[in-house]
Order: sequence, then C-alpha cells, then structure tokens
Amino acid sequence: MKLCSVCGSPRNGNTEWMLKQLHAMAVSGGITSDIVLLRKRDIKACRGCLTCEKGGKNRKGICSIKDDMQEIYPRLLEADLIVFGTPVYFEMLSGLLKNFIDRTCPIWPSLEGKSFAGIAVAEEGIGSAIDNLKTYASICNMKWAGSVTALAKKPRQVAGDEKIIGQLRRLVSGFKSSAG
Ligand SMILES: Cc1cc2nc3c(=O)[nH]c(=O)nc-3n(C[C@H](O)[C@H](O)[C@H](O)COP(=O)(O)O)c2cc1C
Repeated sequence: MKLCSVCGSPRNGNTEWMLKQLHAMAVSGGITSDIVLLRKRDIKACRGCLTCEKGGKNRKGICSIKDDMQEIYPRLLEADLIVFGTPVYFEMLSGLLKNFIDRTCPIWPSLEGKSFAGIAVAEEGIGSAIDNLKTYASICNMKWAGSVTALAKKPRQVAGDEKIIGQLRRLVSGFKSSAG
C-alpha cells in the first residue's frame, strides 16, 4: 500500500509537522509513504490552456508546462492513499495547494477510487478548507477517508500535542483497514 502526502504550507510549520507524523506512523505500520513539500518545489501556475484535456477522461496526463509536476504526477498515480495538508488562509486552502490542485488537471480522472484524506491548520477556525478538499475528492471520485484539523498560529505549535497525535494515528489505522 502506498501513501503520497502533499504539504501546501509555505513554511516548515504545523501542517508539515502533522504530515511528517502521519508519514512516520504509516511507515511503521508497513505503508510505503512519501511527502511532497510544495514549498521546496518549482510548480508554476496553471496557464489554463486545457491542452491536457485532449483525450477526455482517457487523457494521457501531459501538461504543457515542464517543471516539478512531471515527477509528481506518477507519485500521485501510483498511490493508493493521498493526503493533502493545508494551512487555512482566508478560511480556504492555501494558494500553494490550490495551484497544485489546478495542476492535477492532466491526471485527475485517473485518481478515481483512491482513498483521500485532508489535514488543515488554522489560527482560529478551519472555515471551508476541509470542504474544499472534500469537493476535490468528490470531483475526482476518490473515497473520503477523513480529516484531522488543528488550531495553531506559530510554526510547530502543535508539535507533541497528544490529541492531534491520537487523531493522526486513527487516520492511519483507517487507511490500513480500508485496504483490508
Ligand atoms: C495569508 C494568511 C491567511 C490566514 N487566514 C487565516 C484564516 O482565515 N483563519 C485562521 O484561523 N487563520 C488564518 N491564518 C493563520 C494560519 O492558518 C496559521 O498560522 C496556521 O498555523 C498556518 O499553518 P502552518 O503552520 O502549517 O503554516 C492565516 C495566515 C496567513 C499567512
């Protein structure tokens, strides 16, 4: 079983800490796992050319922009489980993660059937961020596997929070049981 997590925070903050915990828990549970840190990647904005739509639902997954997405597409396609993590910005997803989602246009029909979960961190309230992720999962026909949310402001403020650690552990257990 393979997990691919994507972190949409521009800093080494709470979202990244939670995804790294999830990664460690997955690996110790026998799940192959990797994390894409968008803050370290060259991922340009979608140009909206829609050349990727050629072929409809059977599109070949080709984007006219050549950047780090070329290496990330196969990682998403090979995963059985996908987790997107985001800081909450103006009660929505971060721009970094939204742009990444837009750039999945060449492959999103092929994500059908995968399990998908969300992580979101806000200072005061999660707003629509988890609903934004549920909408994406629904459009792609992925199975919603749950979410973990936290309230924090300073980087890594959630580090060591036993309640959050317990919720992340339950999410990973759910992955394992969903795969039988
Ligand atoms: C541009 C911007 C917008 C934000 N908007 C919200 C918001 O609408 N609601 C909220 O509770 N926190 C908001 N925050 C606070 C962040 O969600 C909070 O600092 C969180 O810990 C960031 O996650 P990270 O540590 O993973 O980067 C905002 C922060 C920034 C930089």
